[in-house]
Amino acid sequence: MKAASTTTRSALGVCYYPEHWPQEMWASDAARMVECGISYVRIAEFAWSRIEPSRDDLQFEWLDQAIEVLTAVGLKIVMCTPTATPPRWLVDSMPDMVAVDVNGNPRKFGSRRHYDFSHTGYRKECARITEILAKRYGRHEQVVAWQIDNEYGCHDTILSYSEAARSGFRDWLSQRYQSPDALNKAWGTVFWSKEVSSFDEVDLPNLTVTEPNPTHVLDFHRYASDQVVAFNRLQSTLLRKHSPGRDLVHNFMGKYTDFDHFSVSDDLDIASWDSYPIGFLEQFGRDDAWKNWYMRAGDPDFQAFHHDLYRGCGRGRWWVMEQQPGPVNWAPYNPDPHPGAVRLWSHEAFAHGAEVVSYFRWRQAPFAQEQMHTGLNRPDGSADRGYEEAMLVGKEIAGLPAAETRQSDIALIFDYPSIWASETQPQGACYDGFALVMQFYSALRKFGQSVDIVKPEASLQGYKLVIAPHLLIASDRTVLNLKSTKARILFGPRSGSRTEHHQIPLTLPPGPLQDLIDIRVERVESIRPDVHIAVDTIGTFSRWAEQIQPGEDVETVLETIDARPALLRQGSVSYIAGWPDEPLLNHVIREELDAAEIEFVETGDDLRLRDRGSLRTIVNYGPKPRDAGHLVGRNDEILVGGTTLDAAGVLILRRA
Ligand code: GAL
Repeated sequence: MKAASTTTRSALGVCYYPEHWPQEMWASDAARMVECGISYVRIAEFAWSRIEPSRDDLQFEWLDQAIEVLTAVGLKIVMCTPTATPPRWLVDSMPDMVAVDVNGNPRKFGSRRHYDFSHTGYRKECARITEILAKRYGRHEQVVAWQIDNEYGCHDTILSYSEAARSGFRDWLSQRYQSPDALNKAWGTVFWSKEVSSFDEVDLPNLTVTEPNPTHVLDFHRYASDQVVAFNRLQSTLLRKHSPGRDLVHNFMGKYTDFDHFSVSDDLDIASWDSYPIGFLEQFGRDDAWKNWYMRAGDPDFQAFHHDLYRGCGRGRWWVMEQQPGPVNWAPYNPDPHPGAVRLWSHEAFAHGAEVVSYFRWRQAPFAQEQMHTGLNRPDGSADRGYEEAMLVGKEIAGLPAAETRQSDIALIFDYPSIWASETQPQGACYDGFALVMQFYSALRKFGQSVDIVKPEASLQGYKLVIAPHLLIASDRTVLNLKSTKARILFGPRSGSRTEHHQIPLTLPPGPLQDLIDIRVERVESIRPDVHIAVDTIGTFSRWAEQIQPGEDVETVLETIDARPALLRQGSVSYIAGWPDEPLLNHVIREELDAAEIEFVETGDDLRLRDRGSLRTIVNYGPKPRDAGHLVGRNDEILVGGTTLDAAGVLILRRA
């Protein structure tokens, strides 16, 4: 049975910093926000030094005033807790609250996120300021949501090698393992004489002569992730108490996996993320040719992937909290988005079910670190291109019918601990688990599929196809869910290759997944990305290849040139024995879609589509016009755009 569908209306928001601008400007800013079609405004996430310039000296007048001005025109407020920017006096009062980097250097005051999640003193301070703010503003009629902190993990701030982390980690280990012997066994510390006789002998896994024990590293990741959950929970509990009925939200990031976002989201009502398509393309894009081609609109699948991931985290409810409005300041290169790109990104988010798309930021700041980062308005207050595009989006969404988001036919499993496991022992210089998942996701998108991204323990009922591109660690619960789904299943390489304790399963990989497909991975190799092992005449493996012994009932569907099984299948369960290139993966996915009786259409170069209820949104990420006639049914009603999409063009249809 499929999960119930949800219907939401789309709205626009903006990130605003009243403390950056003279008070005389606030009223006209507010009026122009409304004129632009904006209804949500996020404030105060970095304003601690203005709210409390010194301990207990609380200065609320300006913030009261700002809220009054903004709400007077009907704007709804997303209040923030300012805990990403502890002020100087606070850091000076407990200097050991800063995080320590992997080289043992304390991270200094002077930018932001200079705190350690494990530091109990800092947590108390966060609880104190959160409670003060929640009591003051929590029941304000127009305060409709709270953003807790800002971008957990930004600037590499999850793993800290501080004293606080060390003692927290030891406690955590003693709870997890109960006895040092159990830890010794789980970690295999007999190797290199690393046995411990007390939890106090366990150090943090940095500054070792060569690589530390991988289970030690994996557990430290788990510990650090749990600290983020606890840090977030402390604030969410207080906000729920003093600000009942308001939505709690956090703004996650792109390609960021240092903590388990599903677990943090369990304490939130809404998951959101900060979408900077061009910055991300420059940072994470495949290669130079790809970056050049998509330089003005971003990678065609990167945003969609995160929309689906965070929709999964938010159990259906999600926002874009920060949407790139023009060139940013932080990527290696910061090109200007194509005219229309801001509009495209906004519509695409709504097509994936976003409730709100909120632009970062209202006005470009002429001072400080982000002076080269555009806003909807220029530093002189004049409307920049982002403003015009946001306004157009506001008008367009007002004319669209409310759309439902239904459960998709396809679930893609995303597992944070599996990413930590392959980062801990990549075994090949270019092995990037996240990139492998993205590759599967892109292949599905190019067949026009709308995908649900789910955590491994999620119920898989109602899906026709389940894809697990990178599930190194499969828990009992996950295996049970996989066994009880009627869906077809496709596993990527390295599936089930590690136990919970980061050991090779004694039955050989895929370990517990052998209950689903009877194969034994006998040897693996990593190879350079430009070395290709042919798979039939269809495509190749590069980066990673496995040698597999199939059981009696397993069919070898495809072979490598040297006659090794490349694609194995038992009933409706398949396993790919290497890192596939695009033609090979397309072939495999097409076969799976056919077998699962899922309708598909090839979107063609640069075009992507997303169905939401009866609405279909088609976008062109490329720099050239593209014809989308093949994606439009004869009786479909065009609501926005036309069948030829210009660069960064958008077409929205109601399907017949
Ligand atoms: C985000 C952050 C914002 C701002 C923005 C610039 O990562 O949350 O505060 O720095 O990037 O693009």
